[in-house]
Amino acid sequence: MSLKLKLIGYPIKHSLSPWIQTSFLERSGLEGSYRLHEIASKEIFGEEMKKLREEEVNGFNITVPYKQTIIPYLDRIDITAERVGAVNTVSLEGNEWVGYNTDGIGYVQALRDKFPDMDRNIDVPILILGAGGAARGIFHGLIQAGYTNLTLANRTKSKCEDIIKGTSASVITLAEAEKNIAAYDVIIQTSSVGMEEAKQIVDLSNLKAGTIVSDIVYQPLVTQFLKQAAEKGGRIHYGHTMLLYQAQKAFEIWTNKNVDVTGMDEEMITKIKGDKADVNQ
Ligand code: ATR
Repeated sequence: MSLKLKLIGYPIKHSLSPWIQTSFLERSGLEGSYRLHEIASKEIFGEEMKKLREEEVNGFNITVPYKQTIIPYLDRIDITAERVGAVNTVSLEGNEWVGYNTDGIGYVQALRDKFPDMDRNIDVPILILGAGGAARGIFHGLIQAGYTNLTLANRTKSKCEDIIKGTSASVITLAEAEKNIAAYDVIIQTSSVGMEEAKQIVDLSNLKAGTIVSDIVYQPLVTQFLKQAAEKGGRIHYGHTMLLYQAQKAFEIWTNKNVDVTGMDEEMITKIKGDKADVNQ
């Protein structure tokens, strides 16, 4: 059987996902295709979903701006996607479309693979900066993985309060985060700050050497935030691995195969540096 897989979103022309998923198919010895399906406007989304049902695709990824739009078109969504309120992976199971969200668990896997000491230390103090969709996914990924000492900081504090509802996590302001930055062993930057200009969400002058500092922005790969973290002796984690590992988790949902991603991280860096264009999901 040849697997029919797709990516839905807009704009996605420069996406790295076809390269990633095609590599996964090859690496696991499966036949299939992973094609782009651009939907230029929300008005035609419903029609496009009808077509997709008729095509009987085995699964698809869904990215910006449709991670929430897709939900009413699904038969079921899993608990993580429900908590996050967004879906990035859909799988055809029997006759049903089932929605998942692999962004957060993918991100946590990427972090643990790079820093195995995180596995042994579930009460490590973790600070998440930003409270958009990415922060929500990562927060629930960390909760699901069992991490117990989580703090959120964002320009608009109420968004953090909404994310942490029902958990024991804390909320602080960006100014408090900046002042007390040395209290955290892991800092995760989830906002879009740093994408276009050399700006950063908080200053890291007080950073403790050895702190893990992660930025989910990977265009540019080395943000101003990560530059300063490196100068202060931080252990750096680049954003592109989130893309790789969310893809690995999606592939596992579609195929039941846990594909080995060895070497792909470095290949992605070469591709990102060579292609300055948008590389959404
Ligand atoms: P996504 O869903 O992709 O994570 P988003 O919803 O646009 O993106 O979220 C962007 C995050 O970056 C938000 O937390 C936003 O803060 P607000 O909630 O206060 O809007 C944060 N952000 C964006 N620009 C910022 C800036 N200049 N300074 C501080 N935070 C910023």
